[in-house]
Amino acid sequence: VRLVVLVSGSGTNLQALLDAVADETYGARIVAVGADRAGIEGLARAERAGIPIFVEKLTDHPTREDWDRELAARIAEHKPDLVVCAGFMKILGTPTLSSFPVLNTHPALLPSFPGAHGVRDALSYGVRITGCTVMLADAGVDTGPIIAQASVPVLDGDDEETLHQRIKGVERSLLVETVGRMAREGWTVTGRTVRLGRSG
Ligand code: GRF
Repeated sequence: VRLVVLVSGSGTNLQALLDAVADETYGARIVAVGADRAGIEGLARAERAGIPIFVEKLTDHPTREDWDRELAARIAEHKPDLVVCAGFMKILGTPTLSSFPVLNTHPALLPSFPGAHGVRDALSYGVRITGCTVMLADAGVDTGPIIAQASVPVLDGDDEETLHQRIKGVERSLLVETVGRMAREGWTVTGRTVRLGRSG
C-alpha cells in the first residue's frame, strides 16, 4: 500500500510511520511526504529517510481552491492508496478528499474538542481522561468517521505541552497500528462506520 503523508510540524507521527515501514511485513510504504510550509522538522525527517517531499503553500496561490487543486495534483503524482495527515494543519477540500481516502489523527477523543487546540481545550475544560483519535477525513473539521481511539490520563500539574507529549506517545502507536491494519487487511466505509478487514 502506497502512502503519501502530509505534515505541518515536528513530524513525530511521521517518524513513527517511517520507522514502521522499515519492516517489510508492515504492508505499507511511504512514497512521498507533503507539507503546507517549508523548513519544518517533518520534511527534514522525510529527507533523512530519502523520501521525496513537496511543499504547497497556501500563500503561493491566488485562491484556496487553487491551492487545493494544486495540492491534490502533487499528491496524485505519487499514486497513493492512502493519504495520511500526520499533524497536517490545513482542512483538505474536495479536490483531495474526492481523489483519495484520507486518514487523519487528532489529539483528543472526538467528538470532544475538535479543531486546532484539542489538547488545550480538554485541559481547560477540566477532563480527567482525554486521548487521541484516528479517523477518515471528511470535508468538516475532525468530523470524519472514527476508526480507532485511545485514552490518556490528565495528570495533576499538566500543562498543554506535558499533556500533548503524553498524548503524542499514545497517538503515534495508535496511528502506526491503524495504518498497518488498513494496509494489510483493507477497510470498508458504510456511512459513519469503518470496518477493517476484507470481510469487514
Ligand atoms: C499531533 O498531535 C496531531 O494530532 C496534531 O498535531 C500534532 C502533530 O505532531 N494535529 P507531529 O507534527 O506529528 O509531531
